[in-house]
Amino acid sequence: MDSLETILSLTDADGLKSLYRQAYAEKLRYIGPHVSVRGLIESGNVCAKDCYYCGIRKSNPKVRRYQLSEDDIVRLAEAAKSFGYASVVIQSGEIESESHTQMIVRVLKRLAALDLGVTLSLGEQEADVYKRWREAGATRYLLRIETANEKLYSRLHPADHSWRRRVECLRTLRKLDYQVGTGVMCALPGETVRDLADAIRFFRDEDVDMIGMGPYIPHPDAPLDGVLPLTRAERLAWGLKMIAATRLTLPKVNIAAATALQALADDGREQGILAGANVIMPNVTDVEYRADYQLYAGKPCLNENAGLCRSCLDRRLAAIGEKILYGERGDSLRYFERCKNAQR
Ligand code: 5AD
Ligand code: FES
Repeated sequence: MDSLETILSLTDADGLKSLYRQAYAEKLRYIGPHVSVRGLIESGNVCAKDCYYCGIRKSNPKVRRYQLSEDDIVRLAEAAKSFGYASVVIQSGEIESESHTQMIVRVLKRLAALDLGVTLSLGEQEADVYKRWREAGATRYLLRIETANEKLYSRLHPADHSWRRRVECLRTLRKLDYQVGTGVMCALPGETVRDLADAIRFFRDEDVDMIGMGPYIPHPDAPLDGVLPLTRAERLAWGLKMIAATRLTLPKVNIAAATALQALADDGREQGILAGANVIMPNVTDVEYRADYQLYAGKPCLNENAGLCRSCLDRRLAAIGEKILYGERGDSLRYFERCKNAQR
């Protein structure tokens, strides 16, 4: 295989097509023509963080803040289950508070009766909080490092946001026996091809199970400077290249076709699958809250309810010869491999 830097520097249409084809062949070889789904529950947009690129950062006064109740979250998980989604992701802004921690514990205990795979994406927390959530039934955790370059991270965040703490959180999660997911954004201002290649090496070295990456998409109320003058197609190509290069390096991990891809092209998620991704996270949040959870401009499916999203997804995946694995949790092959090695 060419070096990651060479792959990620490709720009010509034929070269890119052949890259995506190779990565998709690798996905077919290890995973088959199947896509795993997780119902995405955006449980709240209250956030203590102030990332310069994000639409729901705490300093954006235009956001109408919401927090779903315990009952609402359980109801949405039940709805996800009724659609045949055997896993859910509970995602929110980052809050470190005892009352929120306890509310999530209660939700997790109630979800145990539904026999779902439960992924949390609730940001940086103390080890004890991760431990309590793990004991209450969460099995997977997603926490993006945003970029593998610590210096670039410090330019994208206020001084009290720490890249090292995020990395430490990932290591804590692994020790607590979570399946761990991370990821970065691509096409960030100031980011180099080397940074993106380093991100893939970071995923490999940390031996993560799941990866979620997407192109950075400017948000009108976020203050990030120096935004690159890229077209939507160019931003999308960065996301697809990263998926393909990651699949070629780590054939057995779960890679999500992030919603940000769909914000850049109607069929962006399908393009993600055809570049090597194998997971899609259809939104099951009630339509009334979707517009309040906009990390970037142009979030898709703001007005489609979960039922519409499901039939749309079926149709779209069938069109590319892929099938959704309904009723299956869809743990990563890398995770099973690691469990086997641990038993030896
Ligand atoms: N464009 C793309 N992705 C974004 N995120 C936040 N803001 C943006 C943006 N403007 C991503 C971050 C975060 C995840 C929840 O959403 O990577 O970890
Ligand atoms: Fe950090 Fe939203 S404030 S990603």
